[in-house]
Amino acid sequence: MLDWLSMLWDYKWDYLSGAQITVLLSLVAVLAGFVLGIIIVLMRIGPFKPLNWFAVVYIELLRGTPLLVQLFIIHFGLAQFGIEFSKFTSGAIAVSINSSAYLAEIFRSGIQAVDKGQAEAARSLGMSKGMTMRYIILPQAFRTVIPAIGNEFVTIIKESSIVSLIGIADIMFQTDIIRSKTYTAMGPLLGAAMMYLVLTIPLSKAIGLLERKLKNDRNS
Ligand code: ARG
Repeated sequence: MLDWLSMLWDYKWDYLSGAQITVLLSLVAVLAGFVLGIIIVLMRIGPFKPLNWFAVVYIELLRGTPLLVQLFIIHFGLAQFGIEFSKFTSGAIAVSINSSAYLAEIFRSGIQAVDKGQAEAARSLGMSKGMTMRYIILPQAFRTVIPAIGNEFVTIIKESSIVSLIGIADIMFQTDIIRSKTYTAMGPLLGAAMMYLVLTIPLSKAIGLLERKLKNDRNS
C-alpha cells in the first residue's frame, strides 16, 4: 500500500498535467455544448417543421451512438476526406457535440416545466412569441436546469476519458503511460480513479448546495 502511494507520488506531475487536459477539455465541451444545445433546443421547439426534424435527428443520432464512435468518425473518418483536426480539436468537437444533444434535452425539459400561465400572461400583455421566450420562459427554465447542467459537467469529466484513445494526454492517457513505465496496473489505475474523484466530488457537492439554494429562493 505504502509503495503504491509513493509510486503514485513519483508520478504526481504526470497525473496533474493529465488533470489539466481533462478539465480544459471538459470546460470547452460544456461551454460549446451549452451554446449548441440552446440552438438545437430552439430548433426543436420552434415553429419550423424542417428545423424540428433536424433537431430530433441530431439529438437521436448523438444519443443513440457511442461517444467513442463519434470521436473516431471525427478524428479518423473525416481525415480520410482531407478534413483533419488536431487531436485536442477532434476531442473537443466530439465531446461538445455529444454533450449538446444531452443539454438540448435538459433545456427542453426545463422549458416544459415552466407553467403555461407564464406564457399566457406574457402574451396577454402584448409580448410577441419571441419576446415571451426570450424574457419570460428561458430565464425561468434556465434556473431550474442549472443543477442538471452541473451534472452534465460531472458526466463529461468522466466520459472524456475516452479521448485518451486518440492520444490526447488526459488523466487516462497519462495513466496508461505510468502503467507501461512501472509494469504495474492496479496502482496507476487507482491513482486515476482518485484523480477523477478529486474533480467530481467537490463539483457534485457544489451542485447539491446550489440546488438547495435555488429551491429555498423559490420558496421564499
Ligand atoms: N458513454 C456514453 C456513450 O458512449 C457517453 C454519453 C455521454 N453522456 C453525456 N451526458 N454527455 O454514449
